[in-house]
Amino acid sequence: MTTTALIVAAGRGERLGVGVPKQFLSIAGKPVLRWAVESLIRHRAVRSVRVVIGRGQEDVAASALAGLDVGALIPGGAERADSVRAGLAAIAGDAVLVHDAARPFCPPEVVDRLLAPLEFYEGAAPVLPVGDTLARIGEELGEPVDRTGLVRVQTPQAFRLDALRAAYDRWTGDSPIDETTVARAAGMRVATVEGDPALEKITTSADFARAEQWLAGRLTPRTGMGFDVHAFAGEGPLMLGGVAVPHDRGLAGHSDADVVLHAIADALLGAGGLGDIGEHFPPSDPQWKGASSDRFLAHAVELLQAKGAILDHMDCTIIAEEPKVGPYRAAMRARIAEIAGLRLDQVSVKATTTEGLGFTGRREGIAAQAVASIRLGWPA
Ligand code: CTP
Ligand code: MG
Repeated sequence: MTTTALIVAAGRGERLGVGVPKQFLSIAGKPVLRWAVESLIRHRAVRSVRVVIGRGQEDVAASALAGLDVGALIPGGAERADSVRAGLAAIAGDAVLVHDAARPFCPPEVVDRLLAPLEFYEGAAPVLPVGDTLARIGEELGEPVDRTGLVRVQTPQAFRLDALRAAYDRWTGDSPIDETTVARAAGMRVATVEGDPALEKITTSADFARAEQWLAGRLTPRTGMGFDVHAFAGEGPLMLGGVAVPHDRGLAGHSDADVVLHAIADALLGAGGLGDIGEHFPPSDPQWKGASSDRFLAHAVELLQAKGAILDHMDCTIIAEEPKVGPYRAAMRARIAEIAGLRLDQVSVKATTTEGLGFTGRREGIAAQAVASIRLGWPA
């Protein structure tokens, strides 16, 4: 059975009311939509993930999903059901998991629980019991509602794709609130499986605080360090921190010898337990001859993102008697932030001499040290 996860992200988040739709706001530095995609994309039973977005959301969605393999973004519609319809028309496969972008954390076990019943049912939905008292409300508290036999229905909801498409074709009512509504109206049998509090939908700002807290207990801060040295050789300018610094001498190296970017890339790889740049870009490989070190840094960032890591901060120290780093420090910081896709305040560049001591003191070369701080751990 091939399963596509269809994530609807075309809403405007009016109840939150902060201008930017909630699915593009960040939880622990990562957009809600990105969390939702990452929580499904690595599930072994999910063949592909596709995302439905609203008109005008193309750029913000592309940036939220940078580096994730979600194919072409699908244009949605005015109501959630219109977005789902558009998505169903654009995907293929035997089964579909329809999911709200506004539910950033989907535990993998829920997907397992949802797909199992599709052998006998045409659909399955995760449900949770209603814990609180239910009551009608008017001017004041009204009649209690008997909660026996009631559940709260979450997403993702799993269906055989053909059956759900046919059910939507037959639907004639007002805009349905979810797929189980449409499926049941068409006579499909929908199994229930145990939902998960982590799937709670984000609607208000209090939900963001709750989501941050939920996540905080699952992410582990990690630190990586990097160190690199290149000897002076030939003529300048020399590449430092992604900036061409005018100097009478250059640096020797197989690539462009940007000692700063090398140290930072190694720090990032170290934080992720991903080896070192020598392993990813062997000097013996001719394709890296004279290569711009931007690529090494960008690759380290991509590898970390593929592991679901959040990049918090990187700090580096350039150890050199010459050239003077001060005039280029701001440009280096900006360039490093740009390559890594971070904000300026997440990057620090410092410089020091060694008071004439050692190889840097003798002006034989330049050294750089870097430390990277990341968070890692969810989805596992
Ligand atoms: N959604 C969608 N297309 C729409 C409306 C909603 O794809 N026309 C998506 C939302 O992006 C969200 C999910 O459906 O991921 C659930 O909808 P909801 O929580 O209601 O989100 P919004 O409609 O964005 O929020 P609000 O109702 O507060 O405006
Ligand atoms: Mg809505």
